[in-house]
Order: sequence, then C-alpha cells, then structure tokens
Amino acid sequence: MTRDGFPLLLLLLVFLSVFEASHGCLQDSVSAYRFTGAVCRLTYPAAVVLNEKTTKVIEAAFQHARYPSVKREKSLLFIGRVVYGLDNLEIHNLSIGRSVFELRAGEGIAMEISNVSAVFKGTIQYGYGSWLVNVAHSIDFEIESEIDLGINPKLYCGEEKVAADTSDCYLNFHKLHLHLQGDREPNWLKKLFTDFITFTVKLVIKGQICKEINKVANILADFIQDTAEEFLSDGDITVDIGVTAAPVITANYIESYHKGVTKYNNTSAVISDSVFHPRQLTENKMLYFWVSDQVFNPMIAAAHQDGHFQLNISGAELTELFKTSLSSATPEFIRECLLESGSPELRVWSSSVPFLNTSTWGTTVWAQASGQLNCGSQGTPTLLFQMDVVMDVTASYADKKLSLKGNPSEIFVLQAKLLLQNQPLVDEEQLGFIREAVEKIGIPKVLSVLEIELTRLLDKQGTNLFDIFNPEVLPQDGFVVIQMDFGFPHHLLVEFLKKTLQ
Ligand SMILES: *[C@@H]1O[C@H](CO)[C@@H](O)[C@H](O)[C@H]1NC(C)=O
Ligand SMILES: *[C@@H]1O[C@H](CO)[C@@H](O)[C@H](O)[C@H]1NC(C)=O
Ligand SMILES: *[C@@H]1O[C@H](CO)[C@@H](O)[C@H](O)[C@H]1NC(C)=O
Ligand SMILES: *[C@@H]1O[C@H](CO)[C@@H](O)[C@H](O)[C@H]1NC(C)=O
Ligand SMILES: *[C@@H]1O[C@H](CO)[C@@H](O)[C@H](O)[C@H]1NC(C)=O
Ligand SMILES: *[C@@H]1O[C@H](CO)[C@@H](O)[C@H](O)[C@H]1NC(C)=O
Repeated sequence: MTRDGFPLLLLLLVFLSVFEASHGCLQDSVSAYRFTGAVCRLTYPAAVVLNEKTTKVIEAAFQHARYPSVKREKSLLFIGRVVYGLDNLEIHNLSIGRSVFELRAGEGIAMEISNVSAVFKGTIQYGYGSWLVNVAHSIDFEIESEIDLGINPKLYCGEEKVAADTSDCYLNFHKLHLHLQGDREPNWLKKLFTDFITFTVKLVIKGQICKEINKVANILADFIQDTAEEFLSDGDITVDIGVTAAPVITANYIESYHKGVTKYNNTSAVISDSVFHPRQLTENKMLYFWVSDQVFNPMIAAAHQDGHFQLNISGAELTELFKTSLSSATPEFIRECLLESGSPELRVWSSSVPFLNTSTWGTTVWAQASGQLNCGSQGTPTLLFQMDVVMDVTASYADKKLSLKGNPSEIFVLQAKLLLQNQPLVDEEQLGFIREAVEKIGIPKVLSVLEIELTRLLDKQGTNLFDIFNPEVLPQDGFVVIQMDFGFPHHLLVEFLKKTLQ
C-alpha cells in the first residue's frame, strides 16, 4: 500500500531545500538508518524540474521585499550641510534571465540566478544650505539595473528542524543607471545623488532580497510541515515524520531520512532495527520513497483500533453485490434473506489487528474478519461468521487513482452460525459458499472501498495536482520502494506564492 504522505511536501521542500524535522538527528548515519522508517530520494533530474520554478520564487522575493527608507547627511564645501534620503523604493518590470544549480556532494546546493533585470523607482528627499533643513525638496528617480544573484543554501540538522541556511547569498550588479525626473537640479547635487544612490540602492537591495529569500524559504518550510502533519493525521492517528539524520547530498541526489512512527492513544510505535540502506535505491527515476513494513504495520494497527476497518452494506447495494456469479449454490436462508427480507444488511469488520509482510514477490496481508448478515426488519442477526484471510496485495497508481489488487491465498472460516438456531453451521456446502462469497465478493468490495479512501487521502495532500509519470511500487524484503517521474505544474507554485505572500 502506498500510504505515505510526502510526495508534495518533499517536492516543495527540496525545491527550496528546506528540510522539516524534529529533534534527534544522529550524526552517525549507519545508526540513524536503524531508526529510519521512511526515506525520500530526489534525484538531479527532479531538481532540474524544480529549479525551473526557482525563478518564480526569486521574482516573488524581489517583488515582496519591503525596502526601508534611508537618510543621510553630508557637509560640502561652499554649500554646507546636505540632508538627503531615499523613500518609496519600488520594483518594476522585473525579468529573470536564467537560473542554474548544482548539487555539491556533502555540502549543499549552489544556485546562480543571472541577469535579473529590474527598474527601481523611488523618491529622493533633500534639503541643503545653512538654514534649510526644514525646506524639503523631492525628485522622483528611476534606476535601471541588471543583477546576478547567487545562493548557496547549506542543509543542516538543528534542534527542532533540519533547515537550509541561505545566509550565503550575494548580488552582483552589472548595471545601475540612475535617471532623475525633471533635470532641474544643479550638477553637484546630481553627482552627489548618483554616488549616494548607487551605493545605497546596492546595499538596501542586497539586504532585503537575501532576507526575503530566507523568509520565503521559511514560509515554505512551515507550509510543508503543516500540510504533512495534516495529511498524515487521520482523526486521533498521527505519524511523526521527523528526521533521524541530516539529509545527504551527493552530486546525483538529495536524500532525507524520516522516523515514520505512528502515534495513537498516547502510545508511539518504535522503529529501531530498520533494514534501510542507500544501496536499496537507484538514481534513474526522479523521486523515490522507501517505506518500511514497520511504518505500515503500526498505522494499520491504529486504524484497526480506531475502528476504521468496518463496512456496512445494505439494501439494493447488497442484493446487487450478491448477483456476482459463484460456483457454489446459494444456501436457501441467504437467498431468502437477500430477496425476501425488507432490508438486508451486512456488517463486516476486522476482528484482530491485521498484519502485513513484504518480500520481493509481494506484500502479504493477514487479517481476521468478522461479518454479520441481518435480515428482516426486527434487526435480529441471522448469520454471524468469522474467518482468517491471507492475501497478496499489490498497489499501483494510474490516472490519479490508487488501485489495489488482492489475491487471496487462504480463506479459513473459523466459525459461522445462524443466530436463531444458535448452532454452528456444519454443512460443507454452506461453508463453501461463505468462503467463495468472501473471496469473490467480499475481498474485491473491501479493496475497492480502501482504494477510494486511500485515493481521497492522497488527493487531500494534492497528489492529484501533480503530473506523475510511470509510478511503480516495488516490493522488497521488509519494505516497498515507490518510484516515479513527475512534472511540476506551474500554476501550483504561482497559487502558493500568491496565497502566502499577499
Ligand atoms: C516597463 O515596461 C513597459 C513595456 O516594456 C514600459 O512601457 C514601461 O515604461 C516600463 N516601466 C518602467 C518603470 O520602466
Ligand atoms: C541579459 O538580459 C538582457 C535583456 O533581457 C539581454 O539583452 C542580455 O543579453 C542578457 N545578458 C546575459 C549575460 O544573459
Ligand atoms: C487506549 O489506551 C488505554 C490504556 O493504555 C486502553 O485502556 C484503551 O483501550 C485504549 N483505547 C483504544 C481505543 O485503543
Ligand atoms: C493521553 O494522555 C493525556 C495525559 O496523560 C490524557 O489527558 C489523554 O486523555 C490521553 N488520551 C488518550 C486518547 O488516552
Ligand atoms: C455499521 O452499523 C453498525 C450497527 O448499525 C453501527 O454501529 C456502525 O457504526 C456502522 N458502521 C459504519 C462504518 O457505518
Ligand atoms: C516476511 O517475509 C520475509 C521475506 O520473505 C520472511 O523472511 C519473513 O519470515 C516473513 N515474516 C513473517 C512474519 O512472515
């Protein structure tokens, strides 16, 4: 089952290279692996797709930056004191040339955004002379600029968070042309403003842009964290996806290590002997998730305890289901119940904690299910049954839907009885019918309900908004690898930035 919650969040996360985490990063990666329930690997080709979106973020950072007003004072020969300041700095006509990046093994990500051209507009306030300071003049100005921007985010593992430190951020100005509106000012003043503005604008812009990039990164990190937690929570069940070790960067991929422990009813699952090793993942797909059985089993156990595995089917839906052709003859009491009673109802629920085990040939699920078929309006239960089911389940994702295929290898009726007679059913033919009905009607129905539920959970996280190509779920010994290529829809990012930066 692909019940993991991080597709979207990891995309966003690596795209600005911010890793959310909780405390407890282990320095020694080999011991950290043992506590790792889920791993995400994003390879270079994925980073290329995400980097195409970087320019949008940079644009947002420029446009959203608030440039503070600046005041200066200078004494000039013959003229005396000159007071001047910069106000209302705004940015116009921003365009971004290109953005390239590199994954630097063991270090971080290097990003170069070159040829950012922009027009800054603002007002210079000034006064001069000996008496003057309360006589303020002002001129509007425009600056044409061309800038290269470099950011070298470093990933680190902090106390509560593993985050990207974007303080290594620099701007180079190729061009900075000042135009003053109305050219009425004396030459010495123009010269003074040119020097002042050139210097000040560089300083102000650099400080604000780098600060803004850091801020957008943090907003994204919070966003990622919130959506992740929301997605992985289902009622009282939550999954801690805090990291176990600092993310690793090689020239070909970025990999993050997560706990993946389920929390429910004040208890937390424990993973301490995970079999993860980086060799279990390849590098030719864009995105990989490695998920241990040790993540799925506690999730399933919590879902069972929380009463999620119950299904009620009644009326026409139930009669319709039983039209499936079976080789066993329908026992008379069931035929009567379905056709002649006013409101037949079937309740099915898991009656012990289900368990799964994955190996190279598939995922096997052991479950004990109970069922009760009620006939008649007085609501007295007619048939009660309980069985052990073992089946191999495979999951796939296509057309934005998760599909589950189950192939039962064992269906054993533990007990079945008719409540009115309060006697166990012993008739082999009737037991055979129950077995066959469970196999051909019950299991497909339960899987189709699960498919819908799991697809709904994935969609809640926004999986359906992505273009996912050739996703595969590969079962291995004790874990599954989910691998895929993807496209990042432009509108997603634009909407996110709009929403967040308003
Ligand atoms: C922005 O670009 C448009 C179209 O090229 C131009 O008309 C406008 O004057 C520019 N604005 C500034 C502030 O340079
Ligand atoms: C930068 O952009 C301008 C205008 O878009 C273009 O004319 C110029 O060739 C670009 N320079 C580089 C180095 O890409
Ligand atoms: C929650 O835990 C308590 C005590 O550990 C236990 O008595 C109770 O049955 C549990 N509730 C559920 C729904 O599992
Ligand atoms: C969990 O523990 C807290 C404090 O010990 C208690 O208030 C709360 O009711 C418990 N929750 C459950 C679901 O048992
Ligand atoms: C199924 O029906 C039983 C009895 O009417 C009810 O207690 C239970 O909550 C129902 N379950 C679901 C999932 O609707
Ligand atoms: C789970 O599968 C593995 C690999 O096939 C096997 O070695 C192991 O015994 C199985 N575990 C259980 C509990 O069946």
